[in-house]
Amino acid sequence: MLVLALITLGSHGNLSAPTWDDVRPIVARHCAACHQAGGEAPFRLDRASDLAARRTFSAAVVRAGLMPPWLLGPGSVPIHGRGPLSDADRDLLLAWLDAGAPHAADAAPAVPAETPPTDADVITLPLQAGYDIPAESEVTIHSHVHDVRTFALPLVNDEPMLVRALRWRSPLVNAVHSVAISADPTGQSDRADALEDDPGYQMSGDVGARPAGTLGVLGVGARELNLPEGFAFEIPPGSSIVSQVSYRPTGRELPLLGEVELDAAHPEEAVRILDTFGVMKPWLKLAAGERRNENATMVLPMAIDVVAMSPRGDHYLRSMRLTATPPGGEPRLLLNFPDWDMHWRETHVLEQPLRLPAGTRFDLEVNVDNTDDNPRNLNYPAEDIVLGRFTGVDGVLIHAAAVENHEDYRDWVRSLLR
Ligand code: HEC
Repeated sequence: MLVLALITLGSHGNLSAPTWDDVRPIVARHCAACHQAGGEAPFRLDRASDLAARRTFSAAVVRAGLMPPWLLGPGSVPIHGRGPLSDADRDLLLAWLDAGAPHAADAAPAVPAETPPTDADVITLPLQAGYDIPAESEVTIHSHVHDVRTFALPLVNDEPMLVRALRWRSPLVNAVHSVAISADPTGQSDRADALEDDPGYQMSGDVGARPAGTLGVLGVGARELNLPEGFAFEIPPGSSIVSQVSYRPTGRELPLLGEVELDAAHPEEAVRILDTFGVMKPWLKLAAGERRNENATMVLPMAIDVVAMSPRGDHYLRSMRLTATPPGGEPRLLLNFPDWDMHWRETHVLEQPLRLPAGTRFDLEVNVDNTDDNPRNLNYPAEDIVLGRFTGVDGVLIHAAAVENHEDYRDWVRSLLR
């Protein structure tokens, strides 16, 4: 608030008001990924002139906390690239907008973070064309799987493949909300895909006890996932890449088009391999009209470095918090979602990998809401619901590397999948 007071004073002539160059990095980081030409948002805000033209509205939505719309609330671990606006950044942006958004006619635009140049081999896996997103939501035969189409994209790799970045490209920026990606060496997803006439299949991307999204979830405004230097996912030989595409019908039928891109790390690169496990609430039983808190807990048998986390939650999830408490230590908040909306789901890469010692306890707290007041409730009026999945209903997938023995860690992760 002090910063705001000083700057507001400045805009009246004593100190200089913030300039476009001061706020440009904030806009690049927090607005421009969606508000750019071809982005998810309905108009551009990546140029100073765009923001100047909409400065009153922009200031109002930023003040109200409506934009940027990331799910993550205060207190979460620092996330790479973005996350909630800090108070200082918000105050600076508001001071510039309130001062009339001054800028030079030839001001440079705010460019969202560039993809780091890569010398990796890029593997492109297009979705098979031929499936249309319906005009309106359909309730499917598989209860509670809505507006989802899963594709098995054969990779036919003879050797294990190391992947250090994933991308999703699609012209459907408004209709596709998230794509959860995983590797399936069992052939089950290929069989499910072959059963339906149209490409893909109408079930979640979970394969047996393997959750969808073990290789990450790409979302609105975050169409790529770059692992930090020195880390990679490993895809077993003979895998298909399972891509669970969640869409929102737009009122007219649209061909579902898109492609998944993988950056393969060179085999000689020294990387630490990430494996993914879930801290999950495995089932949900809620009578119509019920809203309550639920918990789940898990203890880590060995030390790990957490590199990224992918939240997962259904329509009934209202809020979610994940903490980690090292033995004899204080709880640390990892993720805080005060107002969960599954349409904005994505993988959050930590600014710095976070080391958790053996014996660390994860505590998941969720608030689930099957009342008519939940605007995202699938049923109106509410109906009793019972959901259960091996892979978990609500919770967080943790993408981590072992500190000491990779094989031990991998065996533990696999034991959870049985
Ligand atoms: C994750 C993508 C994303 C980011 C980041 C984002 N926006 Fe938006 N913004 C949207 C979408 C999508 C809409 C349209 C919302 C709708 O129609 O309900 C929108 C709408 C708006 C609107 C119009 C509000 C309305 O109710 O119609 C303003 C103003 C706005 N954004 C400003 C900003 C500013 C300023 C920032 C950065 C501080 C920002 N946005 C960051 C996606 C984003």
